[in-house]
Amino acid sequence: MTDQFVKNQTVEVDITGMSHQGFGVGRVGDFVVFIEEALPGERIKGKLVSIKKDYAYAIIQEIIKESPDRRAPFCPVFGLCGGCSLQHMSYESQLRNKTQRVDDCMKRIGGFENVPVLPCIGMEDPFDYRNKVQLVVSGSGLGKKRNNRGLSAGFYARRTHQVVYTERCRIQPEIADQIKDTVLLYMKSNNISVYDETKHKGLVRHIMIRKSVNTDDIMVAIVATENNRSFMKGLTDILVSNFPDIKTVVLNLNDKVTNVILGDECIHYYGDGTIEEKINDLTFRISVLSFFQVNTVQMKVLYDKVKEFAALTGDETVWDLYCGAGTIGLYLAHQAKKVIGIEAVPEAVENARENALINKIDNAEFIVGKAEDKIEELVQKAKDHIPDLVIVDPPRKGCHQRLLDALCELKAPKLIYVSCNPSTLARDLQHLTQHGQYEIQKVQPVDMFPWTEHVECIVGIRRTDS
Ligand SMILES: C[S@@+](CC[C@H](N)C(=O)[O-])C[C@H]1O[C@@H](n2cnc3c(N)ncnc32)[C@H](O)[C@@H]1O
Repeated sequence: MTDQFVKNQTVEVDITGMSHQGFGVGRVGDFVVFIEEALPGERIKGKLVSIKKDYAYAIIQEIIKESPDRRAPFCPVFGLCGGCSLQHMSYESQLRNKTQRVDDCMKRIGGFENVPVLPCIGMEDPFDYRNKVQLVVSGSGLGKKRNNRGLSAGFYARRTHQVVYTERCRIQPEIADQIKDTVLLYMKSNNISVYDETKHKGLVRHIMIRKSVNTDDIMVAIVATENNRSFMKGLTDILVSNFPDIKTVVLNLNDKVTNVILGDECIHYYGDGTIEEKINDLTFRISVLSFFQVNTVQMKVLYDKVKEFAALTGDETVWDLYCGAGTIGLYLAHQAKKVIGIEAVPEAVENARENALINKIDNAEFIVGKAEDKIEELVQKAKDHIPDLVIVDPPRKGCHQRLLDALCELKAPKLIYVSCNPSTLARDLQHLTQHGQYEIQKVQPVDMFPWTEHVECIVGIRRTDS
């Protein structure tokens, strides 16, 4: 089949679906073609740019029939920057598309033909929503308008390690762009070197900014290979005097040859390394290394759905696995008898314990460790005290196999699975339903990441023999 096609060949394709990366998908005969920025319902004339055994990638040459869902992207670096992938779609059609993709995963990967997938819950105002921004710092950069005399900070261009600079990124708060430019100008004026990943030389790797929505607190973390005290002191003074909402400035040390952004060690140059965010009447303290949902507005929507699915009465024991700074468990604690959280990052557990204290919650306990290890200990201890509800909220790769096995053995009457990756979610749900007496009640997608292909889901699961 591949022989029929050559690079640069023009093909006409009817787009029938969308891939997880946000590419339009169609077929030429049996051959699958992925076309960047093509939408379902469109007929596209495309140029083949990469041909594999069973599929190919193409770029749009002409839109022969246009989808009514198409809209003009609002960002000048859309298509170049790897941050957003769906700006060419209306927001309503993004939500429909996310619901559809979750449904596809349930059917195709999970083998669930009849699981109800509810419509994805979107944002009223889907802009400026990120409370955390992590920007790669580079000595050069792409993007039409590049200031700071050559220095750049932004997301990587798609499929490259070239940084794209943009003056104003509409998925993050405006003040984050101002802080980014202040850091770059200070670096330039003081001849501070940029980390070069090919030579493993240079100082500054990333700028991380967190801004709370309901308190306005700001955290700035500079990720660097060394603790250059005069640079950090000078920069901290400039930042704190220009941006009064900055509550903490931190140096995060990372001298490893790695793609992982943050190192393990943080040195505080201003404040105590934490900021606070409020959701309803709860206050959460967050540090550089702890996970916190990136969209505060939708975090409340997500957690309210978890609360609704949990339907607690006050008598229940709840296990919150992969609990980060304890946020889900603490959100439910007033309606439960006891909450036990497990989390691998010690700083996040410290935050979780502190968060319990700040909020005067005394029925929550947090354990440091890997969920797959600690659950086995908890199961041993629990014996006659099986939890009434177990919540899991793992990273993109999904739950560890040993954790899934332990859940199947545990016989908890109710599970809630919160996931940011519908593919691994569907895989894990298949395991739980095939190896444990579980059935899926419903799947609720929530849009935590407008204009990107990502989608979050909450799944209500119940034991059939309880
Ligand atoms: C998607 S976050 C969820 C955090 C939290 N539930 C929330 O809503 O903010 C996943 C968390 O799992 C933690 N994690 C990763 N692998 C883990 C493991 N094997 N055991 C326990 N926690 C883990 C990460 O540090 C992160 O805090």
